[in-house]
Amino acid sequence: QFHREIPEGLRQLPGPSAFPIIGNLIDLGSKPYLSLTEMSKRFGDVFQIQIGMRPVVVLSGYETVKQALTKQGDDFAGRPDLYSFRFINDGKSLAFSTDQAGIWRARRKLAYSALRSFSSLDGKLPEYSCVLEEHICKESEHLIKELQNVMRVEGKFDPFRYIVVSVANVICGMCFGRRYDHHDQELLSLVNLAEDFVQVVGSGNPADFIPAMQYLPNKSMKKFVNLNNRFNNFVQKIVTEHYTTFDKDNIRDITDSLIDHCEDRKLDENSNIQMSDEKIVGIVNDLFGAGFDTISTGLSWAVMYLVSYPEVEERLFQEIKVQIGLDRTPTLADRNNLPLLESFILELFRHSSYLPFTIPHCSTKDTSLNGYFIPKDTCIFINQWQINHDPELWKDPSSFIPDRFVNDDGTEVNKLEGEKVLIFGMGRRRCIGEVIARNEVFLFLAIIIQKLHFYKLPGDYALFRM
Ligand code: HEM
Repeated sequence: QFHREIPEGLRQLPGPSAFPIIGNLIDLGSKPYLSLTEMSKRFGDVFQIQIGMRPVVVLSGYETVKQALTKQGDDFAGRPDLYSFRFINDGKSLAFSTDQAGIWRARRKLAYSALRSFSSLDGKLPEYSCVLEEHICKESEHLIKELQNVMRVEGKFDPFRYIVVSVANVICGMCFGRRYDHHDQELLSLVNLAEDFVQVVGSGNPADFIPAMQYLPNKSMKKFVNLNNRFNNFVQKIVTEHYTTFDKDNIRDITDSLIDHCEDRKLDENSNIQMSDEKIVGIVNDLFGAGFDTISTGLSWAVMYLVSYPEVEERLFQEIKVQIGLDRTPTLADRNNLPLLESFILELFRHSSYLPFTIPHCSTKDTSLNGYFIPKDTCIFINQWQINHDPELWKDPSSFIPDRFVNDDGTEVNKLEGEKVLIFGMGRRRCIGEVIARNEVFLFLAIIIQKLHFYKLPGDYALFRM
């Protein structure tokens, strides 16, 4: 791939020189988003590094990323064939597999419509506008009780440990029609594996880039394979139960609706996309997997910012007190009336950039970007962190300033500014859970800020009741 002839009129990609076998692995260091941001200052928005034996093109700069992912979207919509991705969802993941464009598009459409219809269904009780709102309100009630309990007993808590169960229950409700207790060992052991997952998928897992590493003993890879197996078994057990109790006239949740889709498809002989039942029902695995860790990590960051900026927390509380009061629980309809909370969420996405890269992309054909030649099947990293901290886009990017998103009289969010924050990706592969995620982060936060005040003890978090 390195030695391909460059078509006339195009330039060769710039980039740092690389060592044999390990390439630029050492240059990447432990925070690749920072080292790659530094490199972008030297080599520009489009440059190439070599991670192990594999060339990787790194994209930075809002306009360049927009050009690649939206205007030339089809050219960059693939996923690379990485060793670790083969273990996710048994190699049948919608988000990580190298499915051909037609199959990926059909699965994505199916996933999107299942997610949308099951989050916007009417709630069981009339006071909720939709199922999503009902799940979030009920789960935050449980969460608050759990936190108050642990405060009474231990006087401190780890926010992620509790938040992750509440968020997992919201997506479990939609996918599987069930919830788990905060002390359920099966769920706890599963959701606590998420950190190891992100570590391998994040970027620069050696076994993905140096093929020989696949055959050497590798502790983090072993853990990764193990956690994917446990995750798959957990979901598989629930899916099997759904098959046995399936009733076409009573579609209970997303799993049922995917099973139903398999049945319908068998009746439709004209269907031109051939997909196995496993690939259809396996979509629920992606939705559940993507749906809890991303949101609970975001909410844990929120708690961290609340304790670090108590004056911001106080203003957020006052906004809720004035706009909603303290007697009724906030709802999704309040979103437009809480511009400071909305800005706080945008700033936490921007400042933390806790998903510094999208999932790696891959070029689907020979193409070019900003005049540089990019061959087919090149692995592409999108550096979201760089865009969120680019001094060309943001004044004082390293400071946490929620007000940067609010208009001058403090009554509205500046939507154009908000759209510059990159955390869900962009274009063809953009996150399909974005609307749900933004609603969920908003409502969980509005409810817990209304009811709780967080503060930091040395080394731990704590809270007290308003
Ligand atoms: C993909 C972020 C929540 C489902 C992605 C990507 C990012 C992302 C960065 C990769 C985009 C790319 O490769 O260019 C987030 C964040 C979330 C969140 C920050 C929460 C705050 C969710 C939720 C769901 C979900 C709640 C579903 C219930 C997916 C799926 C994909 C994806 C299925 C793969 C799309 C594809 O490959 O075509 N998300 N996500 N995400 N997300 Fe999310």
